Amino acid sequence: MCGIVGVIGNPKATNILIHGLERLEYRGYDSAGIYVQGEKSYLVKSVGRIAQLKALLTPEVQGMIGIGHTRWATHGKPSEENAHPHTADHGRFVLVHNGVIENYQEIKDHYLADDTFYGDTDTEIAVHLIAKMTLESGSTEEGLRQALKIIKGSYAFALIDQEDPDTIYVAKNKSPLLLGVGAGYNMVCSDAMAMINETNQFVEIHDMEMVLVHADRYEIKNLAGEIIRRLPFTAEIDAADLEKGTYPFYMLKEIDEQPTVMRRIASEYFAGEEVEVAPEILEAMKESDRIYIVACGTSWHAGWVGKFLFENLCDLPVEVLLSSEVGYRLPLLSQKPFFIFPSQSGETADTRQVLVETKRLGIPSLTLTNVPGSTLAREATFSLPLLAGPEIAVASTKAYTAQIAVLACLAKAAGEALGKAAAQDFDLKHQLGLVANGMEEIFTEKDLLEQQAYNYLTDRRNAFYIGRGPDYYVSMEAALKLKEISYIQAEGFAAGELKHGTIALIEEGTPVFGVITDAVTASHTRGNLQEVESRGAHTYVISMKGLEKAEDNLVLPRIDPLLTPLLSVVPAQLIAYYATIQRHLDVDKPRNLAKSVTVE
Ligand code: AGP
Repeated sequence: MCGIVGVIGNPKATNILIHGLERLEYRGYDSAGIYVQGEKSYLVKSVGRIAQLKALLTPEVQGMIGIGHTRWATHGKPSEENAHPHTADHGRFVLVHNGVIENYQEIKDHYLADDTFYGDTDTEIAVHLIAKMTLESGSTEEGLRQALKIIKGSYAFALIDQEDPDTIYVAKNKSPLLLGVGAGYNMVCSDAMAMINETNQFVEIHDMEMVLVHADRYEIKNLAGEIIRRLPFTAEIDAADLEKGTYPFYMLKEIDEQPTVMRRIASEYFAGEEVEVAPEILEAMKESDRIYIVACGTSWHAGWVGKFLFENLCDLPVEVLLSSEVGYRLPLLSQKPFFIFPSQSGETADTRQVLVETKRLGIPSLTLTNVPGSTLAREATFSLPLLAGPEIAVASTKAYTAQIAVLACLAKAAGEALGKAAAQDFDLKHQLGLVANGMEEIFTEKDLLEQQAYNYLTDRRNAFYIGRGPDYYVSMEAALKLKEISYIQAEGFAAGELKHGTIALIEEGTPVFGVITDAVTASHTRGNLQEVESRGAHTYVISMKGLEKAEDNLVLPRIDPLLTPLLSVVPAQLIAYYATIQRHLDVDKPRNLAKSVTVE
């Protein structure tokens, strides 16, 4: 988490840094700071959001070189002392950092026993170590290199040595970092979105590399000091996609974009009526005897729907695993496993840890990501784009439905390659068009959903979503949406499992949302809803045309049974959104969270 930016060679350094930090605020927003150097140097830090930092900036805070940071606390509480940039040697060395230094205590005890620290962060220890190594070696470049040989963990560093204002020293391991190439000036950033207003030319920085960034050139080196040549790539981001436009929050905009994303996937993953996935991917899947889908949070929930799709269309067994549970202890694997990593950001550290392990074992892997140049996209054997466009709100919406739609394309293509009739007969392209129309139909019920969110969730501390099969998978995602932004404690539960213990939590007025789109289990879920209702629950039913009852609260348009999660999640996204608005909370930036989780 955390976002870092840097710029060198531009007199508008302060503006570029602040704008970049605003774009990176989704990565963490508990404190922020910038360092700018011109004729004088300025270090400004603040607890809270970028807006609070901006309010502290006076007109003289200007310079040609600077670095900035927006923080999601890992070591030390959010405070001005713990906010970045951190300094050492009386302010000579100034550092911003995204990542976690695992051996910070050892470094402190072994190398820095006599130093005084102002905060509690691992970053302050890193800048002190770099300062010490620089003073011992006589060169900042060498000092940084020596420090990197000692530091263990993840980092994207941007360092300024006040005595050398012609260079930003940069280093990367595991945390994302890009170099932005401007006209006569250069930049660094955690994510291309931060600098897309300045340039669309970016250079990848790989793990265990250092870069000396100057205004007119950059030198990439490995830790042995050897020069690495790498050309810029063009980032395909439309700056307009990053704006909220007339929407009050990104989340609502992103919910509304889902029909467009469905149509885009239907058009990009099909050539005419034929689904198109690279033959090498299908070959690797054909050779495998089991698929493992490994992810976190919303992406993990999409993975469960993926299991449903692969098992139905390809006849292949699928396991869905939580990255954080298997990164250091893989389960007993089949003879020929194939790993799929769905990840909106492509940067999630827990998921990357599993990818590192599968690479070590020589297992083929595929990343499904919304950020094509991301770490997971680069490091997996194969990668496929989600085509959802930038997702800024911390609560994932359009990336979830895009993941399911792309998993469906992949399952159809793999099923066809395996000669499975179910895949050949599945008219996915047409169905994705129906999904898009269905989503738009649900949007016409926004007023109703807003009112229902009010009726069911006002003053409630907890709620349940229940369903079976695909409806259970959606219930997990629906509950996550509700809890992460409205702070209502919500559980997504297998409807039939409630009576085995959890039903004890049902009391007078407890909201229980039932998802009923699966014909096989519809009557059973209705039975479970009656069980909770007779114990006082305030039940709400999302059903599907053909399975509906007159008293249901929302009836979804009919869709192929394999794709119902693409529709049933939409009212849940909107209910979470409206419940949050009604509580006057920040929908896009819920407390304690960050969009891209780059720590394990
Ligand atoms: C979803 O709303 C969350 N913000 C979170 O669960 C997210 O899906 C998870 O951190 C995984 O992120 P990724 O898709 O970028 O890997």
